[in-house]
Formats: sequence, C-alpha cells, structure tokens
Amino acid sequence: MKKAALLGTGSCLPKRILTNGELEQLVETSDEWITSRTGIKTRRIAGQGEENYQLAARAAQNALRMAGVDAGEIDLVLVATITPHMIMPSCACFVQAEIGAENAFAYDLNAACSGFLFGLDMADKYIAARPDMKILLIGSETLSARVNWEDRNTCILFGDGAGAVVLTGSEDRGVIASSLFSDGRLWKLLYMDSPRSRNPDLHCADRKGCYLQMTGRDVFKFAVRSMEEAVRDLFEKTGRHIEDIALVIPHQANIRILNKLAERLSIAPEKLFVNVDKYGNTSAASIPIALDEVNRSGRLSPGDMVLFCSFGGGFTWGALLMQW
Ligand code: ACO
Repeated sequence: MKKAALLGTGSCLPKRILTNGELEQLVETSDEWITSRTGIKTRRIAGQGEENYQLAARAAQNALRMAGVDAGEIDLVLVATITPHMIMPSCACFVQAEIGAENAFAYDLNAACSGFLFGLDMADKYIAARPDMKILLIGSETLSARVNWEDRNTCILFGDGAGAVVLTGSEDRGVIASSLFSDGRLWKLLYMDSPRSRNPDLHCADRKGCYLQMTGRDVFKFAVRSMEEAVRDLFEKTGRHIEDIALVIPHQANIRILNKLAERLSIAPEKLFVNVDKYGNTSAASIPIALDEVNRSGRLSPGDMVLFCSFGGGFTWGALLMQW
C-alpha cells in the first residue's frame, strides 16, 4: 500500500522578532527566568499583511516550489490551526483562493498543537485510498492575537508562524504508522474560548475570557507523560526502538519538556530537534516549521526514520513514524 510521502516543505515566519528583553518591559519577568524555565529567547509576531492565511499561503508556495508542483495540481488543502482568520470560511479556503488551488477541496482541522500530526495521519489515510492524490497540509497560527499580553504565565510562551508540506503516495517512503489520542475531560487545563460560539449576552463580554488559559504545571506533567506513552505505543505497534530513529521532531513547547522526554526515552541530544529558542510555541505550526528547517538543512538521508510527537489542548497527543 502506498504511504503519504513528502514532495516538498516550506515555512513562513513573521518579520517581527520579539525578544525576552522586550517582554521585560510588558510584564514582570526576566530573560533569565524565561530562558531557564522554557528555553525560549525570541518569538515571531504577525503584523500587517501577515494574517494567519497569508502566512499559511506563503509557506504553501514555498513547499509547492520545492515540490515542483503547481497549485492547480493540488487535490486537498488541509490547514491545522486554532487561530483561523475567521470561523467561517475556513483558513484552508482562504489559502486555496490565495494560491489558486482551484481544483482542491479545502477544510481546517483543530487538534491544537497536535493538529499537524493528526493531519499527517489523515493525509496518509486519503493517500491509502487514492495514492495519486496531491495534498497540501499546513500548520499555521497567529497565537499572538489570542494571548493575554498582561499574563506573564502565558504571553512569554507563544509565537506566530506557518509550515507546509506537499504529500503524495510512495511505495518506499512516507508515513509508517501513528498512535493518536485525545481526552476531552482535561479541557480546562488548556483552552481558548470563542467570543461568538455561544450566546454573546451570556459570555465573553470581557475579552479576557477569550484569551488562551493554561494551568502550566499540570500541562507540563501531562505533556511529558503523554508523549512518552504515545511513543512507546508506536514502538510496540511497529516493533521499532529508539535506536532505529535518526531524528526526533517533537512539538516545540518548552525545552524542559523536551529534555525530560529525551531522558525518559533515552533520546541522544543530537537526535532531538530543537528550535523553540527561536520561535517559541507556535502550536500546530511548530512541527511543520521544524520539518522544513530539517529538510532544508539536508541532515536526513533516504531511508532514515523520523519520529514526530506532540501534545496540545483538548487534550490531544500522539506520535508518528515516517521514513525519509
Ligand atoms: N516570569 C517570572 N516569573 C514567572 C513567570 C514569568 N514569565 N511566569 C510565572 N512566574 C512565577 C510564578 O508566578 C511562580 O511564582 P510563585 O512561586 O511566587 O507563585 C513561579 O514563577 C513558578 O511558577 P510555575 O508555574 O511553577 O513555573 P514552572 O516552572 O512550572 O514554569 C511554565 C511555568 C513555563 C508555564 C511551565 O509550567 C510550562 O512550560 N508548562 C507547559 C506549558 C505548555 O507547554 N503549554 C503549551 C501547551 S500546547 C498548546 O496546545 C497550545
């Protein structure tokens, strides 16, 4: 059976770089605190002409260029996001129009920071059914619009950006297997309400109610445990071991979460991809941005096994194995 394999990758980061030093002017924090607790030094903040769908479209165009595929050849535009430009139409429809993918159907997927991974799994299932399909999968976020810039517990963590991949069927490379999970009972630990999804008289007159809300310590513990469990489940399913993996590309949330995960799974430091220092947590965009950086650096060779893992609001979490 053919698997979903990469034809090209692309990314787009907003121009504006926000440093920890600048955050010191906004809230009571310090570069030392942010660096030691999160590993984050800078993040990107979207400005004029950098709406979510515009970042997504530019990332998509970069991926299409690398793949040598015209937008008109794309069958599906799938965007993983929790910060769409509008609730309706989807971000994917805006992207479709922006890049001229007139032969594609298009829709969004919400699995928070696990959105790109869940999307890869979904793309693989489409391709199993129709191997010649060309799918544009994008993770794109403008979280800066939905964090409370007066809340030092959250505003230091997040950033904006987009990453994209073009996928089609392949016999000998691509998605091998995935282990995906959700637990809606834990939603209160990490959520972002919507001003228009309920009766406005009852809710969200105060915009602060619509900002991202998080119980950081509990999320931290859950993140380490859930990603470890997902990876172990995936290894059991596939008979693979950590020694078989050339590179781990995890959701970039916090360096301490990643280091703890690496410790528990015996991942060697050189096999753990990290760029959270540059971009912070970009939710669904974090893995495809990382993947584009890895791809363009040429550090992987054909046949290499790549392990992805993520966790996010919902809760949602998972792991996915891909052969390069
Ligand atoms: N600057 C200075 N001090 C701070 C800051 C800050 N920015 N933020 C919190 N503090 C203070 C707290 O008020 C607290 O002070 P107190 O002891 O006087 O009460 C102290 O620092 C310790 O706070 P903790 O919350 O215990 O700090 P912790 O070490 O847990 O780090 C952090 C907080 C970074 C948020 C961590 O818990 C974390 O990374 N959690 C996971 C977050 C995450 O990954 N979220 C994304 C989920 S993905 C998605 O779906 C969007």
